[in-house]
Amino acid sequence: MTAMDDRPACAALEVDDLRVRYGELLAVDGASLRVAPGQAVALIGETSSGKSSLALGVARLLAPSAAVTGRVAIAGCDASAMSGREFRSRRAGLLGYIAQDAMAALNPVRPVGKQIGELFRVHRGMSGQQATAQAVRELARVRIDRPELVARRYPHQLSGGMRQRVMIAMAVALSPPLLIADESTTALDVSTQAEILALLGVLKAETGAGILWITHDMGVVAELADWVAVMYAGRIVEQGPVHAIFDHPGHPYTAGLLRTRRDLRTGRPGTPLFQIPGAPPAPSAQRTGCAFAPRCPRSSAVCADQAPALEPVAGGRLVACHHPVPPGDGHQAADQAEEVRS
Ligand SMILES: Nc1ncnc2c1ncn2[C@@H]1O[C@H](COP(=O)(O)OP(=O)(O)O)[C@@H](O)[C@H]1O
Ligand SMILES: [Mg+2]
Repeated sequence: MTAMDDRPACAALEVDDLRVRYGELLAVDGASLRVAPGQAVALIGETSSGKSSLALGVARLLAPSAAVTGRVAIAGCDASAMSGREFRSRRAGLLGYIAQDAMAALNPVRPVGKQIGELFRVHRGMSGQQATAQAVRELARVRIDRPELVARRYPHQLSGGMRQRVMIAMAVALSPPLLIADESTTALDVSTQAEILALLGVLKAETGAGILWITHDMGVVAELADWVAVMYAGRIVEQGPVHAIFDHPGHPYTAGLLRTRRDLRTGRPGTPLFQIPGAPPAPSAQRTGCAFAPRCPRSSAVCADQAPALEPVAGGRLVACHHPVPPGDGHQAADQAEEVRS
């Protein structure tokens, strides 16, 4: 195992050929992904495409019954070579996980200041008093007013937005090189969502951490992401710089997802993904060919037989498709798809 280091050349996160199995079900089917320091990578795709499984697999937060293979490196540190015990003991310093449900993530019977302070006692060897003072500073860092007061509160005494801030404070407390946010604003009302997103935007700049951002919200992607990875049936089917993906989606699936957004750069928070007609296949290890073929307007015989590999196309993107959409044709292709189906 290599020592943790912060050489700028090291990716915040490097995932290589990750597979996550729940028994027969292959939820993540060989995903590879890189997040550079300071970069926000948005992971998008329909429900059940395997986004959370990928994130939880990286963070090793899956139940022991889930089988995970592949290589995960965090800031140059080969996490997949660590024992579960070693990883758990170092997790808070390696990555911060911001989930959808702060209530479930926080300990209900401890004041939030104590929960934050504990990180500093355990990982930084601070005394109880030092840790309490540090917890108050951490609450201020996530723009909580009267942090001394809030530190003494229990999770149930706080609003949903405040709890989310507390969870974010815990995620960034030890300045980990990687943050993972999984639908972290979905459960909040619209104005609180906007506040939390603004906070995450500020922290992105302040911390320099790489962020893996799972969201259905295309406004968020447009505003905060640098890079987009699109997941379908357990595979990453396209990835690239956010503008390249929005302007010229190369995979027919991406084109379909984005079809309601002609100009995503003007997208506001709350813009959902388009619902593509039809349903994704059940994730399975026995698949041949492209999983999207049955719903795809561009599919041909080869698509049913051979799974396409993720390969570079123009514009710095990678696309896994036998018949990628030509640049400039993305929205037209999506409209055409719509006609075929109607
Ligand atoms: N703990 C689990 N046990 C069994 N199957 C699961 C479990 N978690 C998720 N799945 C299944 O794995 C697939 C991917 O789910 P998930 O990773 O949650 O996708 P997403 O986050 O994109 O909605 C789905 O078919 C889902 O039903
Ligand atoms: Mg999910």
